[in-house]
Amino acid sequence: MINIAIDGPSGAGKSTISKLLAAKLGISYIDTGAMYRALALFALDCGVSPCNAQDVIAILDKAHITFNYNSTGMSIFLNGKDVSIDIRRHEVSKAASDISKIPAVRDRLVALQRESASNSHCVLDGRDIGSNVLPHAKYKFYLTASAEERARRRYEELKIKGEHVDYNQVLKDIIDRDKNDMERAYAPLVKTDDAVLIDSTSLTIEQTVDEIVRYIDKDGFADGR
Ligand code: DC
Repeated sequence: MINIAIDGPSGAGKSTISKLLAAKLGISYIDTGAMYRALALFALDCGVSPCNAQDVIAILDKAHITFNYNSTGMSIFLNGKDVSIDIRRHEVSKAASDISKIPAVRDRLVALQRESASNSHCVLDGRDIGSNVLPHAKYKFYLTASAEERARRRYEELKIKGEHVDYNQVLKDIIDRDKNDMERAYAPLVKTDDAVLIDSTSLTIEQTVDEIVRYIDKDGFADGR
């Protein structure tokens, strides 16, 4: 199966771009961040701190995470309930970053990601896809944008959803999350040497997708999903 790895920091537009890219190529899309978010939501619902590895490990077996892909993207289910909207809450973002530092959590989710990637041609977005989950992926991209631009986009997104947040707080959260994701000991966010760097700071969504498509041999996907 042909896999396209898209890694990069929070708010770089990975999920929007990956979704559009998958639709354009007629292949599946797997949002690996949604899996960390679903586990983080589960921990919060159970009253467990996502920073407490021991407590998180104790509840891991109770969280059954599944997902499906459809024309509008990926829906994610936690113990059978669709949590695709709940996992986007602001407080879940920080919790997901914290929970993703726990090696047992990563091992569990990486196994699910590898298995899913082996079943269909797909675009996977995350932090460690090219470096750890699928080091032999045929295509690897590192999508980034300045912290200020990423904060601006996230701020606009939250405002539209009716969440009242302060831009400076969103920027601080983005910088903190970058630090968390890049400096964690286990499978940190890195750009591998074989990944193509795409900086979307001054690109529109369409321009970013087009830039990525330029590197991809579209005929390779002829046998579909
Ligand atoms: O892409 P996102 O913002 O939805 O991801 C949520 C958190 O999950 C993010 O802070 C880092 C973590 N994550 C990760 O560690 N590895 C991945 N492959 C995907 C996400």
